[in-house]
Amino acid sequence: MKIGTRIRWVKSCPSTNDLARELALAGEEEGTVVIAEEQTKGRGTRGRSWYSAKKKGLYASAILRPSKPAISLLPLVAGLAVREAIFESLRIRIRLKWPNDLIWEEKKLGGILCETGFMGNHLGYVILGIGLNISHNLEDFPPEIRTQATSLKLIKEEDVKVKDILPRLWPALNGWYELFLRGEEEKVIRSFEENSALPLGKKIAVVTEKRVYEGIFKGIDSFGGLILEERGREKCFFSAQIKTIKSK
Ligand code: BTN
Repeated sequence: MKIGTRIRWVKSCPSTNDLARELALAGEEEGTVVIAEEQTKGRGTRGRSWYSAKKKGLYASAILRPSKPAISLLPLVAGLAVREAIFESLRIRIRLKWPNDLIWEEKKLGGILCETGFMGNHLGYVILGIGLNISHNLEDFPPEIRTQATSLKLIKEEDVKVKDILPRLWPALNGWYELFLRGEEEKVIRSFEENSALPLGKKIAVVTEKRVYEGIFKGIDSFGGLILEERGREKCFFSAQIKTIKSK
């Protein structure tokens, strides 16, 4: 079943990713999406919370059951789909910051949270969570994120609603997901690089739990890892925080 064919709307839930996971475990088909008006325990990456005020944002999770186990490109696939849907609906060109940030002029507009579940030793399901700030005014964000966050309403300077984006989101997501399933990873990677918030060839800092690596951003590898050239040697990262280094 195509993604978005069946949508389960809820008024409120702790996290749509958790609700989608429960459905997946109960045998729900690939393609079902859970959307909530608000989340009381929305989750971001790295154990952070995701601020999810009522009717301000899109809080959606899709159940996927990909036929291949190498799924680390999926956050990039989802980012490209959201980018395309925003452009098609509002003519706004957002950028993607590896691996899962949706960015407008250095501010965070949304993010992707991809979680997996195994049945025995094979991949049973993937929950693809999408959080997008839609109709927030600046004062709708908690003070601590106000300088780093933005919404489609703030960018467009006019009212935007979840329903303005959704009709374009599912075709875009199905298109990019099918490309990925067909093995056209190269297209996903090139497109991600073209729309990257981090410019190729520029100096960046890669922050891992162990240390901070500084080097040149060389691109994305075929598994979705970030390639950094540090003192002439290439390293690949699959989980890290990236900071840009402003040239003096
Ligand atoms: C990030 O940290 O950038 C990822 C944020 C992902 C938030 C979305 S909102 C819908 C889904 N449910 C959650 O609890 N998180 C994701």
